[in-house]
Amino acid sequence: MRRVLSGLVNFTLRCIRLITIVAAMTKERVIGNGNGLPWHIPEEIRHYRAIIEGKIVIMGGKTYELMKKNLPGRNNIVISRALTSIDGIDLCTDINSALKKAASYGDDIFIIGGASVFEQTIGIADRMSLSEIKKSYEGDKFFPEFSKENWTVESREDFAEFEYVVYARKRL
Ligand SMILES: NC(=O)c1ccc[n+]([C@@H]2O[C@H](COP(=O)([O-])OP(=O)(O)OC[C@H]3O[C@@H](n4cnc5c(N)ncnc54)[C@H](OP(=O)(O)O)[C@@H]3O)[C@@H](O)[C@H]2O)c1
Repeated sequence: MRRVLSGLVNFTLRCIRLITIVAAMTKERVIGNGNGLPWHIPEEIRHYRAIIEGKIVIMGGKTYELMKKNLPGRNNIVISRALTSIDGIDLCTDINSALKKAASYGDDIFIIGGASVFEQTIGIADRMSLSEIKKSYEGDKFFPEFSKENWTVESREDFAEFEYVVYARKRL
């Protein structure tokens, strides 16, 4: 009986994957301008890469185009209908197959944008690692609106040009 129970617990633990959104945004929720970032903040880039380096990451086709020379993940999963097979990445044609593919690697999942992918996944994310940029920048890509009432601040760290805040979804 004990063996059956411990097997069940291990199985359940293996199935629980935390989904974390990682993004940088201004107070106005700007995350991008055209196909790029509106700011150049080396400290934020280093911090961002330290969070996702070697992890299982999911990104949209446009974010892939932005990052393709320096992909951050151990397993890089790109959602696109237009791209055709690319060496070293998993290509998925919709969000659900991307999440399934990510879960198959048996580790936590990091969602790194862009705007369209954040929009589709904010409803299922367990955590958000957000660099809140202090200055305002013009942009045309936005992080989805969310109510802070539904999230607990797990940690907050101050940097010269941004504040790094980790949010965890409140569970009822
Ligand atoms: N500040 C940050 O943290 C951050 C992070 C990442 C990106 N960004 C910024 O965000 C902007 C890019 O965001 P974006 O919304 O334009 O592009 P995106 O989300 O990176 O990519 C959009 C593309 O992903 C594919 N896609 C998305 N959802 C799909 C679905 N359900 N089924 C099939 N394909 C799907 C489509 O690719 P195909 O057209 O190839 O089919 C779509 O055109 C840029 O400005 C970038 O700099 C900011």
